[in-house]
Amino acid sequence: MKYEVFTNPFGKTYKIVCNRLLFFAFCLCQASAFSQELTVRVDRPGAAIPSTMWGIFFEDINMAADGGLYAELVKNRSFEFNTPLMGWKEHRTSPGDGSILVLNRSEENPANPRFIRISHFTDGAYGLSNEGFRGMGIKKDEVYHFSVWTRMHQGTDISLKLELVAPDGKKIATARLKPAGGEGWQKDTVSMAAGATEPKAQLYLWIEGQGSIDMDMVSLFPQHTWKERPGGLRADLVQLLADMKPGFVRFPGGCIVEGRDLSNRYQWKNTVGKVEDRKLIINRWNTEFAHRLTPDYFQSFGLGFFEYFQLAEDIGAEPLPILNCGMACQFNTAEVVPADELGPYIQDALDLIEFANGPVSGKWGGLRAAMGHPEPFHLKMMGVGNEQWGPQYVERYTIFTKAIKDKYPDIRLVNSVGPNPDGDLFNFLNDTLRKLHADILDEHYYRQPDWFLQNAGRYDHYDRSGPKIFAGEYAAQSNAVVSPQNKNTWQCALSEAAYMTGLERNADVVQMASYAPLFAHVDGWQWTPDLIWFDNLRSYGTPDYYVQKLFSTNKGSVVVPLSLAGAPLEGQSGLYGSATMDNATGELVLKLVNTTDKPVSPSIKVEGVKKLPARAVQRESIQVALDKTNSLDEPMAVSPKKEDVPFKKGNVVSPVLQPYSVSVVRIAIH
Ligand code: AHR
Repeated sequence: MKYEVFTNPFGKTYKIVCNRLLFFAFCLCQASAFSQELTVRVDRPGAAIPSTMWGIFFEDINMAADGGLYAELVKNRSFEFNTPLMGWKEHRTSPGDGSILVLNRSEENPANPRFIRISHFTDGAYGLSNEGFRGMGIKKDEVYHFSVWTRMHQGTDISLKLELVAPDGKKIATARLKPAGGEGWQKDTVSMAAGATEPKAQLYLWIEGQGSIDMDMVSLFPQHTWKERPGGLRADLVQLLADMKPGFVRFPGGCIVEGRDLSNRYQWKNTVGKVEDRKLIINRWNTEFAHRLTPDYFQSFGLGFFEYFQLAEDIGAEPLPILNCGMACQFNTAEVVPADELGPYIQDALDLIEFANGPVSGKWGGLRAAMGHPEPFHLKMMGVGNEQWGPQYVERYTIFTKAIKDKYPDIRLVNSVGPNPDGDLFNFLNDTLRKLHADILDEHYYRQPDWFLQNAGRYDHYDRSGPKIFAGEYAAQSNAVVSPQNKNTWQCALSEAAYMTGLERNADVVQMASYAPLFAHVDGWQWTPDLIWFDNLRSYGTPDYYVQKLFSTNKGSVVVPLSLAGAPLEGQSGLYGSATMDNATGELVLKLVNTTDKPVSPSIKVEGVKKLPARAVQRESIQVALDKTNSLDEPMAVSPKKEDVPFKKGNVVSPVLQPYSVSVVRIAIH
């Protein structure tokens, strides 16, 4: 047997069997004696598929927020990074031509203390450039809005010459801005159109004239954002999310909720209100992995809780915020807040419900209205802690639950059962939280593909009257968890599809599921695999993305039994499947996954309807080699193809399921 030994940066050593071999071995031993006669009972509706069944997990990891979804192009726009001029560079003709001073007014403005003072008293050239997030993605003919907060000193007569410059020195956009002057801070703006497309442009800001000028919040946004909102989100990335029709959006993570230590935890109140008042902090993934250091990774919170709620609303998903419960990441410092000091943490949770749902006459509802959304966001659920474990979590879970339920009994709480789907940490929380009648348990599994195949029946025997399950973070790992070698291969996505049939079949218990993590910048990632990859201009969905999308856009309304000799189809001869009825269209929706290297043509007898109507059977399927992936250059290499298929005889449907394929088959019933 071939083993690889891998130590993850959280300090855990894994001895793994080369998973390709395991996967094939598993598929082969499944390939014996398969009768291929399946039955589906459309007259036996089971569990309703919750609207939240398939959702998305957003975490600010891999430059998902700044440098990603948040369309700001200037990095370190308010000089608050630990190194105040990180991302910025001075340019001058000769040494005396201008200078820069970083000032810190922390008493006057604790949320945004730093600004720069530029002095220029010669005729020589002086300016600054900003490198953006691994460059700035600029598109030909697109309009870019520049803005800056300025303050002028007496006797100053300064203009700013702005340039967007390609790496070869070519200027692709220019503009001039004459700050209005004055000794109080004010925002100046100017727009410029780009003459060329460039993924790695930089912004130059030349000082013309003489005097001293203070600057803060130097910003550049494309005009075209999602819903054309000024200072908004990258439209192509939101579109990929919207196309999935997700049932919920979990935000903002992930370990980012916890922080490496408590001082570094996510505090939603620092992420709402005016962007210039949102206090920047370091991103906890900045130094997490020695092999993937990203020293310039911070959180400006331009994408904050208001924007997350708005995003969820825009794409028709339920918001699911996850809040810190007084525990820092247990893979890092594992700091906890003493139980008698949890007050502010609990207050944050209660106030968040007010921010989302409360009347505009209240403090938090009023802030929501001031930010442009007087209507409530209809928050119905909330996570208490991220991936916590141990008795210390139970203690904090109990205090939080009481406080939240006393005031808001209808809010459903999502609770951690730890980082693994089995083992001591899982068993302890699973047993304890079940006894405490938790609402929803959040299970995480980052495992190899064969684990997903072997566990497709995981929920068949779960307690039907216990807590509901949120498969909150999962992804098949082609190598090992947190290995930088992991790839988003079709083999991984195929195994997830097989597993997801088991989630769907058990929709009475499993009410939510999301792949994790969601986004990764190709030049700025820490964690792989991820659902969607992007550079500064382009983006693509992985094979896993197309599997998620297939399931989510073919959800159906109610589970119906699909069986082989009376048993659920969960790996017999390498075949997996589930079935739902779509009440809106009157169609039976089959999800069928062939994990073997041979085509299979099962006979599926549709029972419970007299005669199938003459309408065509439709199929959307993905079939490619196991090692196939998508890329920026080949974004759709692994993606579904649609076809009408003539494989119906009487009430028997016999689709040919190609080797290593996922098929969604829609059969008109009514
Ligand atoms: O998704 C990446 C990380 O995996 C999340 O932050 C954490 O919850 C889990 O350990």
